[in-house]
Amino acid sequence: MIVRISDDSLALALGADALASAFAAAGATVERVSSWGMHWLEPLVEIDGIGYGPATIDDVPAILDGTSALNIGPIAEHPFIKPQQRLTFARAGRTRPLSLEDYEATGGWSGLRRAQSMSGEAVIAEVTQSGLRGRGGAGFPAGIKWNTVAKAPGGRKYVVCNADEGDSGTFADRMLMEGDPFQLIEGLAICAHAVGAQTAYIYTRSEYPHAIAKLRAAIDLAAAIIAPLHMEVREGAGAYVCGEETSLLNSIEGKRGVVRAKPPLPALEGLFGCPTVVNNVLTIAAIPHILSEGGAAEYAALGVDRSLGTKPIQLAGNIKHGGLYETAFGISLHDLVYTVGGGTASGRPVKAVQVGGPLGAYIPPTQFDLPFDYEAYARADALIGHGGVVVVDDSADMGRLARFAMEFCAVESCGKCTPCRIGSTRGVELLDRIRAGAEVLDPVGALPQMHNAPKVARTADQDIALLEELCDTMKFGSLCALGGFTPYPVLSALKHWPEDFT
Ligand code: NAI
Ligand code: SF4
Repeated sequence: MIVRISDDSLALALGADALASAFAAAGATVERVSSWGMHWLEPLVEIDGIGYGPATIDDVPAILDGTSALNIGPIAEHPFIKPQQRLTFARAGRTRPLSLEDYEATGGWSGLRRAQSMSGEAVIAEVTQSGLRGRGGAGFPAGIKWNTVAKAPGGRKYVVCNADEGDSGTFADRMLMEGDPFQLIEGLAICAHAVGAQTAYIYTRSEYPHAIAKLRAAIDLAAAIIAPLHMEVREGAGAYVCGEETSLLNSIEGKRGVVRAKPPLPALEGLFGCPTVVNNVLTIAAIPHILSEGGAAEYAALGVDRSLGTKPIQLAGNIKHGGLYETAFGISLHDLVYTVGGGTASGRPVKAVQVGGPLGAYIPPTQFDLPFDYEAYARADALIGHGGVVVVDDSADMGRLARFAMEFCAVESCGKCTPCRIGSTRGVELLDRIRAGAEVLDPVGALPQMHNAPKVARTADQDIALLEELCDTMKFGSLCALGGFTPYPVLSALKHWPEDFT
């Protein structure tokens, strides 16, 4: 009997190793596979396609004799899995992450083989035709970026995979790297062929040790297949700002992770001053499918307006059924939170969702008809970002969450520009004053050097107006998205839940 259990970090954190040992001790053959992405059911056990979860070692005998009450039926037919349109995560739960045999048997390397039989220009034309946009958050068309690098003068070019997944509530990059590392390697090899790069780096954070180990092992196994391309994993120390592409490049170069001014764009002057493609894990991992026969057209047929293809959405926070949900663009928040996610884990009413990480807007249930679409979110003063959806229930204090956003910015700021470096700290002080409620007689009390200045009375309303002005300055004056997008969670919380600020 073959028992399949994931070796994804989340399953490991929930006792998957001990469970696997218990099944082996009971005489079963255990296969370690990638995760299906149904987090509330991990560790999930699969025997002949039937799932049992969340399982503990005490459940082993009943699972083996077929009497366990944890039986969820055929996993592929589960209501969380069946409606998904899994292209990037097509192998999730189905293959052993480091098995070249499993990868090849599920269509692996066919995109690379096809790409290698084409000119770089033809490959880029297919990527452009697919409508693929940057999945890290900004949604810039991948084909245009690749074309800029391919056409840039210079013999030395690089491909850099941004795997510094830092957004709260996101885990799709990690799942992909741990569960299907060859797909990322294949995507990078296709990209390098298309733009004429000789070296590819995958930059990720030291908080992802399992992903790093899997990637390094997978690169060794695939070295002959991707040769002469040289590929390396680079480990960052976990600064949020190193997910910003120019800080990331500085970090790879061994410098401090500080944002560089743009222009020049990395596509023209990137790593070590050379033309460089910087793309997120999910952008690169979509490539092998797009380059398979008919893949680009199939991809472009999914989605809405200019948001084409599929988006791996990550459901997290206070949600009953959290996990990885890949579907075509256009799905509403209502469907995601209630139909797919089953509402809150606490059973209390949903108060808000934050989409797009710590810099994303808080969206109230009255706007849950918003379709997952880059432009629709931008029009609503919100962002899709990396596709993280974090749910909070009605016990959440939105004023406190707004303060957290400002504090996060103050802590993670690289310090290069004033609106972010100083604005975020002043923002925290302002929010504290507003939330303290009473009229304050020292608008600059937190600045010791100003203590001798004349004291001026300032009301909470004036402080709110000042906060809005400060947010405006941060939004339009910051050099990168960290300072520029922090106003989204702050102002959305203030707009929809003003009662939480008094
Ligand atoms: P951006 O809009 O400045 O650039 C997007 C990309 O397009 C960059 O790679 C840029 O170099 C490239 N680009 C722009 N014009 C180009 C041209 N003419 N030719 C070739 N390439 C061109 O956005 P940025 O600052 O790179 O990213 C901001 C996004 O990052 C936000 O939307 C946010 O959601 C996301 N983000 C994601 C995080 C994560 O963990 N995945 C964490 C924090 C932010
Ligand atoms: Fe650095 Fe913040 Fe300015 Fe970005 S916005 S460059 S993180 S100081």
